[in-house]
Amino acid sequence: MDAAAVGRPRLGIVSRVTAPAGPHEPTGIVVLVSGSGTNLQALIDAAADPAYGVRILAVGGDRAGITGLHRAGAAGIPAFVCRVEDHDSRAEWDAALTGRIGDHAPAFVVSAGFMKLLGPEVLGRWTVLNTHPALLPNFPGAHAVRDALAAGATETGCTVHVVDAGVDTGPVLAQARVAVAPDDTEASLHERIKAVEHPLLVEIVGRAAREGITVSDGKATIP
Ligand code: GRF
Repeated sequence: MDAAAVGRPRLGIVSRVTAPAGPHEPTGIVVLVSGSGTNLQALIDAAADPAYGVRILAVGGDRAGITGLHRAGAAGIPAFVCRVEDHDSRAEWDAALTGRIGDHAPAFVVSAGFMKLLGPEVLGRWTVLNTHPALLPNFPGAHAVRDALAAGATETGCTVHVVDAGVDTGPVLAQARVAVAPDDTEASLHERIKAVEHPLLVEIVGRAAREGITVSDGKATIP
């Protein structure tokens, strides 16, 4: 069994990541990225401390040449690319991605700026945590920062949640708030969101690794 066994529900109701048995055994994760990978970098930096309890086993990207994969390489972490366009269907891509992730036997998966909707095979096998740059359920989707600005929101933020089959609809684990400034652009606001997103993701991934996660009745909890 993996260091932290993933008990995915046979009936799809409850999933559980069990904390590792030994106090010195880090929990292995795979991180998925699509872009600059600053959230990944925050996890890499945190994982350098053995007390954090996380080992990043591999980093997967949906395209080659992205900075996130270079960050993995610079840290000596195996990296792989699994492109939708290299497969005949979304289902085949889902199966291939399941295989690539499964090669590393992670306890759970972190989507850190991964801009593809994950399929049922991946989601059926692992608990996946995602970070999203808005206060869900507000502003789901790929343009959350732009959408918050366009809506005239005075406050936004970020959310770490468990991924389900919907678009940013899974149970929330934690959120952090950010005030929108009158002169904010999408870029300036996103930078300030990332400043709170990085420590939030680091905190939640570390706690999930050390203490486990339970998803039951549409709620996610870390003991
Ligand atoms: C993050 O803000 C994440 O919430 C969103 O995309 C951004 C990725 O940033 N989905 P990075 O690649 O971690 O720098």
